[in-house]
Amino acid sequence: MSIVRVLTGITTSGTPHLGNYVGAIRPAIAASRAAGVESFYFLADYHALIKVDEPARIQRSTLEIAASWIACGLDPERVTFYRQSDVPEIPELTWFLTCVCGKGLLNRAHAYKASVDKNKAAGADEDADVTAGLFMYPVLMAADILMFNAHRVPVGRDQIQHIEMARDMAASFNHLYGEHFVLPEAQIEESVATLPGLDGRKMSKSYDNTIPLFAPREQLKKLIAGIKTDSRAPGEPKDTEGSALFQIYQAFATPAETAQLRQAYADGIAWAEAKTILFERIDHEVAPMRAAYESLIHHPERLEELLKAGAAKAQKIATPFTTKVRHAVGLRDLRAQAGDKKDKAAKAALPSFKQYREADGRFYFKLVDAQGQLLLQSEGFASPKEAGQTVKRLQDLAEPLASVLQEIPVKQLVTTQVLESALQQLLAARD
Ligand code: TRP
Repeated sequence: MSIVRVLTGITTSGTPHLGNYVGAIRPAIAASRAAGVESFYFLADYHALIKVDEPARIQRSTLEIAASWIACGLDPERVTFYRQSDVPEIPELTWFLTCVCGKGLLNRAHAYKASVDKNKAAGADEDADVTAGLFMYPVLMAADILMFNAHRVPVGRDQIQHIEMARDMAASFNHLYGEHFVLPEAQIEESVATLPGLDGRKMSKSYDNTIPLFAPREQLKKLIAGIKTDSRAPGEPKDTEGSALFQIYQAFATPAETAQLRQAYADGIAWAEAKTILFERIDHEVAPMRAAYESLIHHPERLEELLKAGAAKAQKIATPFTTKVRHAVGLRDLRAQAGDKKDKAAKAALPSFKQYREADGRFYFKLVDAQGQLLLQSEGFASPKEAGQTVKRLQDLAEPLASVLQEIPVKQLVTTQVLESALQQLLAARD
């Protein structure tokens, strides 16, 4: 099975709340346990600087988010969990992408455009209070994703455009410098609920209607008591439709429990009682994780160590990959110049194999040169495995193969047998 790489970032600008837990943390941790995926989760602290200019808040948020993910069961042995700013290759890649990214593409980014529109509406200068950081946000995000050649990026709908921009930048870079980047795709979790907040609107820091995921028990109880309800008295039937309380309950309860509360609504449960039920249900799920969270918050050195280990794991990929990318754009050791020319010429001359099946049901391969010129047409094989093995054998002999092919007049087709005997002769002559 081929491994799918999944990557997502969490901006370190606030305190995790129940909406983050239900919408991102819980599904991400569940997904990270699946077979055949390799997950990367990181704390996007460079991104946080675009929105937050209070250093203490950046630090506190980084601590709280790291502690939350670990307390909720993320296994740092299984996934790669790191802090963006511990991987200096990311800002380096940001610059390479900046140089292939059209300014017009960034002009069209929703977040930037929204700021400009707001300024226009207020009669201010278009770019008033717009930092270059906000403008460049999509490039930094593209670097996050492309650095690890992630296939899938689980994000909210508001982030889809950013993934599309990352694809654009990857394609531009690949076009100019060769195939270095996988084109990533956004992964939108349709089944995951958007949690309403205290006032019934989407739970979000910007509406100031959140319930912190790890609020102490008493505070959790108080906050839940403050969830907006209508004024129906005890004994009056209640609507589940549009009830924030009911929706939040549903995100934590089993279908059977949800059905029970639905019945209780119909039977006229008092709001105070419904709130107690909701509180107990959430606390039941959160309490064990809260204990782990509290312990981690009080041991920042454990989290620091864990993030440093995560960064080392990330850099096992990022460092050699960046070396390759630096070389691709021409940031090279000057002494290597002569050798590189030869490499490039050799590479350009290297033919490639294409495997396919014909109508006769047999499996073939052909060899075409860099210009698409047919060099070699195989005979038919009974199975793709046999054809593949022959290809493999010829590939292992890539270098003598290239010289044999140079001897073959263009357009003359040879069978694999002829070719193999020519290779044998060549190899024998060399020994
Ligand atoms: N922009 C994302 C958000 O606000 C956070 C983020 C930063 C991110 N880099 C990323 C998400 C890379 C996915 C992949 O939610």
